[in-house]
Amino acid sequence: MEKKKLILDCDPGHDDAVALMMAANNPHFDLLGVTTVRGNHTLENTTINALNVCQYLGLDELPVSSGCAIPLVRIPPKTEERVHGESGLDGPVFEKLTKRVTGARAVDFIVDQVKKFPNRVTLVVTGPMTNIGLALRYAPEIISLIPEIVFMGGSWQYGNVTPAAEFNIFADAEAADIVFRSGIPLVMMGLDVTRQALCYPEIIERMANHKNVAGKLFVDLMHFFSMAQKKVFGWAGGPLHDPTCIAYLMDPSVIETKEMYGEIDTSSGPSYGRTNCDVFLLEGKPANVKVSVKIDVDKFWDIVEECIKHYN
Ligand code: BDR
Ligand code: CA
Repeated sequence: MEKKKLILDCDPGHDDAVALMMAANNPHFDLLGVTTVRGNHTLENTTINALNVCQYLGLDELPVSSGCAIPLVRIPPKTEERVHGESGLDGPVFEKLTKRVTGARAVDFIVDQVKKFPNRVTLVVTGPMTNIGLALRYAPEIISLIPEIVFMGGSWQYGNVTPAAEFNIFADAEAADIVFRSGIPLVMMGLDVTRQALCYPEIIERMANHKNVAGKLFVDLMHFFSMAQKKVFGWAGGPLHDPTCIAYLMDPSVIETKEMYGEIDTSSGPSYGRTNCDVFLLEGKPANVKVSVKIDVDKFWDIVEECIKHYN
C-alpha cells in the first residue's frame, strides 16, 4: 500500500515535537515536510525548535519551511511560555543547530506539494491555522486537491485559553474560519479527547526503556512538560494533544469521531475562537467535520511506543 503523504504544520511546542517524532521515520507515512507557524512561541522560536527536533532525530533530509509570524487578522495573542517554557521547547538540551530552513516559505511549500501530488497530501495541523488559511486564499485551486485535514484544535465542550476557546483556534480564529468553510474533509482532535491522553510518570518510565534518540527526546520533553502542566492546571500528567492526529492517521480505531456541523466564532465577544459544534445537527446544516468524541488511551500509548521503536 502507498504510504500516506503528509505535511505537518506545527508550532513546537512539546506535544508538536512528539507529533513530529511520530510522523517522521514511520513506515505508514511519507512526511514531505514540516511547516512552522507562530503559536506556542514566536515564529522564530517555533522554527528553531522544529529544526532542533529534526537535527536531534537525525532527520537531515526532511524539509522545514517557516510560515506566518502573525495571525491573518487579529492582534497576536500571548505565546504559551507557561507550559512550553522560555524557548517554547524547554527541557531537552540540543547541540549547536546546523540544520537550516528550505528556501520556500511555508505557504508556497504547501501549495507546491499539494499541486505536485493532487488528492494525495494529507495536511496535519497542530498549531494555529494561519498558514493553511492563507494558502487556501492565496491558491484556492488547491482546495479541491486536498483529501483531508486532520488537526488538533477546538473542543465541542469547553476551552483551555478562555472558557469557550482552545488555544490553536483562539490564536487565529479567522484562519480557522477559512478552513472550516472550505469544504475540505476535516477531522478535529479537540480537547474533549486530547485532555485524556495524559502523560503520567509511569508512561515516561515506560518510554524511557527505549534508549534510542526518540525515547530520550520523549523523556526529556515530558519531564518538563508534565511539571509545567501540573503547575498551571494541577494535572499529574501533561496532555499530549498534537500526537493524537498522528495516532489517528496510523490507526483510526484509536479515536472515535462523530460527524458534526462546526463553525468558528469570529465575533469579538467572550466566545471568540470557539468551535461551535452542532453535535445533534439541530440546525439541519450538513456536517463538515468529523469531531473526536472518544479515545482508547491504552491503544494511544501503544502507538506512541511503536513510533519510538522506529528509531535506532
Ligand atoms: C494546543 O495548544 C498548544 O499549546 C499545543 O501545542 C496544542 O497544539 C492545545 O490547546
Ligand atoms: Ca501545537
